[in-house]
Amino acid sequence: MGCSWFLLLWVLPQTWGSSDVLRRSVLFRYLQISSFTNSSWMRTDALILLGELQTHSWSNASDTVSCVKPWAQGTFSSQQWVHLQNIFRVFRSSFTRDIQEFAKMLSLEYPMELQLSGGCEVHPGNISEHFLHVAYQGEHILSFQGTAWEPAPQAPHWVDLVIKVLNQDKGTRETVQWLLNDICPQFVNGLLETGKSDLEKQVKPKAWLSSGPSPGPGHLLLVCHVSGFYPKPMWVMWVRGDQEQQGTQRGDILPNGDETWYLRATLDVAAGEAAGLACRVKHSSLGGQDFVLYWGLVLLVVTCLVFLFFFFF
Ligand SMILES: *[C@@H]1O[C@H](CO)[C@@H](O)[C@H](O)[C@H]1NC(C)=O
Ligand SMILES: *[C@@H]1O[C@H](CO)[C@@H](O)[C@H](O)[C@H]1NC(C)=O
Ligand SMILES: *[C@@H]1O[C@H](CO)[C@@H](O)[C@H](O)[C@H]1NC(C)=O
Repeated sequence: MGCSWFLLLWVLPQTWGSSDVLRRSVLFRYLQISSFTNSSWMRTDALILLGELQTHSWSNASDTVSCVKPWAQGTFSSQQWVHLQNIFRVFRSSFTRDIQEFAKMLSLEYPMELQLSGGCEVHPGNISEHFLHVAYQGEHILSFQGTAWEPAPQAPHWVDLVIKVLNQDKGTRETVQWLLNDICPQFVNGLLETGKSDLEKQVKPKAWLSSGPSPGPGHLLLVCHVSGFYPKPMWVMWVRGDQEQQGTQRGDILPNGDETWYLRATLDVAAGEAAGLACRVKHSSLGGQDFVLYWGLVLLVVTCLVFLFFFFF
């Protein structure tokens, strides 16, 4: 008892002190893809995501990172923002030049695809972790760790030479460290304030049932569709009464394009056992009022329609 009081006293200031949004961890990612067609033709495009939401985009045609959300400058001043834009602009052109030089030096073959993923994850209690990884032709080849670049475990041998060259550049290493360690969590904390209403929004799902292609003779594929919900975490299960049907197959959660999500859950059942099954949907937007859709009712409606059809025609 004494111990749990102690814990409570310790936990309360932590949760009250931080932003309301930060009851869970938030991932902030810069994702870049650079396609080098040949020694003179290339393009680089990037986007930035805060959790599930895209906050910024940066196309090859643009000199500056553009805000996708009106709150995407966070709490940074215009001056800080311009300073960051300059760093990113210099970074993009030196990245392009460096890759072209490495390609020449190491006789790498075109076309080349490079992907870069960097950012930070900010946890409740003002703790953050950061990362910066680079992939070449879809394979992770190197990362920034602590204060220097390191090869990925399975990286080809030529990566060691790249690492050696990169690590000689102390200035860039310090800038990367500063961006990841200091700027990233500060920027995220600002975004959590300015983007609060978007980040905390709740959009209720719509759900409907259908039957999929028959999985075999005498079997039905029951499909439960859940669409238009936000945020992403979603629980959906085929049930009979309170009993969850372990055969439920969840699809991937797919984006709808309007910042909401779509998910389907299917169940393969013997045709005679479908009646009485239901699809149960739990989501944060529903405030504890689960959706329950009964298969039997669909069956009933279909049967009635068929009956009416034969009755009248
Ligand atoms: C490089 O690729 C572009 C686009 O495919 C092409 O137009 C150009 O002629 C190529 N240049 C060389 C030097 O191969
Ligand atoms: C991408 O941008 C660079 C730098 O501005 C430019 O040289 C290059 O031609 C652009 N690539 C494409 C495919 O437009
Ligand atoms: C979180 O930590 C950073 C330094 O890492 C500090 O500048 C900032 O003031 C802290 N924020 C809060 C809410 O404690």
